[in-house]
Amino acid sequence: AQHDAVAELIRAFTVSADKLRAIQTHFISEMEKGLKHHGQTVAMIPSFVEGRLTGQEKGTFLALDLGGTNLRVVQVELLGAGEFTTKSTKYKVSEELKTTDAKNLFRISGTLVCYGWRINLLNRLIPIVLVRSIDFIADSIDSFLAEHGLDAAEEAIPLGFTFSFPVYQSKINRGTLKSWTKGFSCPGLVGKDPVVMLQDALAKKHVPVFVTALVNDTVGTLLSHAYRNPDTMAGIILGTGTNGAYIENMKNIEKWDGGSTSSNEMIINMEFGAFDNERRALPLTMFDNKLDRESINPHEQIFEKMIAGMYLGEIVRNTLLHLIDRELLFSGNSSKELNEMWSLETTYMSAIEADADPQLESTKNILEQTLSIPSTTLTDRRIVKKVCELVGTRAARLASAAIGGIIAHRDALEAGCACGIDGSLYEFYPNFETRMYAALKELFGEGVEKKIRLGLAKDGSGVGGVAAKMFKSLPVPV
Ligand code: BG6
Ligand code: GLC
Repeated sequence: AQHDAVAELIRAFTVSADKLRAIQTHFISEMEKGLKHHGQTVAMIPSFVEGRLTGQEKGTFLALDLGGTNLRVVQVELLGAGEFTTKSTKYKVSEELKTTDAKNLFRISGTLVCYGWRINLLNRLIPIVLVRSIDFIADSIDSFLAEHGLDAAEEAIPLGFTFSFPVYQSKINRGTLKSWTKGFSCPGLVGKDPVVMLQDALAKKHVPVFVTALVNDTVGTLLSHAYRNPDTMAGIILGTGTNGAYIENMKNIEKWDGGSTSSNEMIINMEFGAFDNERRALPLTMFDNKLDRESINPHEQIFEKMIAGMYLGEIVRNTLLHLIDRELLFSGNSSKELNEMWSLETTYMSAIEADADPQLESTKNILEQTLSIPSTTLTDRRIVKKVCELVGTRAARLASAAIGGIIAHRDALEAGCACGIDGSLYEFYPNFETRMYAALKELFGEGVEKKIRLGLAKDGSGVGGVAAKMFKSLPVPV
């Protein structure tokens, strides 16, 4: 019976090459719809970032990056010749911050985590973690300025704001929030301008900073990757959430009503996490449906819920519970921990997939210690590993269908191009990139890795956030 159940799961979670092609085709037609009309499922939002970077731009800038695992304040120095350096301070985004009232979002008390290292008596480096309470965003910028000797500036310091949510932009530094995603739900900000809220919070604290650009993390990732690789066509995030941005011809953006532009190209923030909310092409399983039904945004971000790090662990948890209920796993035993929504984190899947021990000792540890399952057999652990592999592989293949859609729509295969990718899933999940390439090969044939060059654009979006400013006027150095 266990064998049959696993075979059933393999059927449910496997995306065949044919299915992948069908998803890619539907993805392209949804992109085209979004370029023609406002208010489509795949929103295809013009970013007001025109033209391309050459890698020769120079200057020192400030950036604020909110919307992934961390809030970051970054000082970026663009050195020219495709080189840049960054100094940044990271602040963990608490659950409290994700759901607080919008009025407080930019002012809420949060936790400042400072990382550092010291040498102990045995001459080993040990980490120091200091935690203190702060007024979240405005204070984090303020203390960053003081730390880096920037607080005595005579004029307001320009800041690029990377805000990783769907924002309908009306200018390079103006826009309205369409909806929250990724578990954020601060009431009162939908329909409002996050830049105004931030600027207001900064003014109240007398922090001498002026927000000059608002960009999505995908747009920032594209720009920073392009600074080093001028043939970059797309910026993709595979992290807590998933989304992509790419360079489009102005003439293809039929819905454009934003006035005259100085370039014939513009970066589009696709918001592809919402792709196929209508469920026409995606092979959803009962485990995906349960996740969606129980989420705070049912029927939304369906594609994101099958791919992104915030959700993969929950799909695995739902699958394991189903096997437990049929008494096909852990002798029918669950635990208080495993019964709790979101308790199986995607980082556990990474560790389980990386477990090469013949007895699957790390897997045993996670299941029995972290998730308090009373006892597990080697067969149980193999089944759990298989489920992780199925869910992780499906995510990588679906991500490739999206990238494949962008490349095919832009007809960019023959000339070749780079895609900058950031996010914890792409960076840390075992074999994610290999699985993506395998799927791209099924879509485009042998040698695809020479034509579509996927590459890590680590911490890139802050760099991109400041670079965005350059398209509008000359940079104002700090
Ligand atoms: C960071 C970027 O490196 O990656 C953020 O600076 C982005 O802008 C984030 O949102 C995405 O990854 P994760 O895993 O933190 O969601
Ligand atoms: C979510 C957001 C999107 C962001 C992505 C990756 O999908 O809606 O704006 O780019 O997460 O962080």
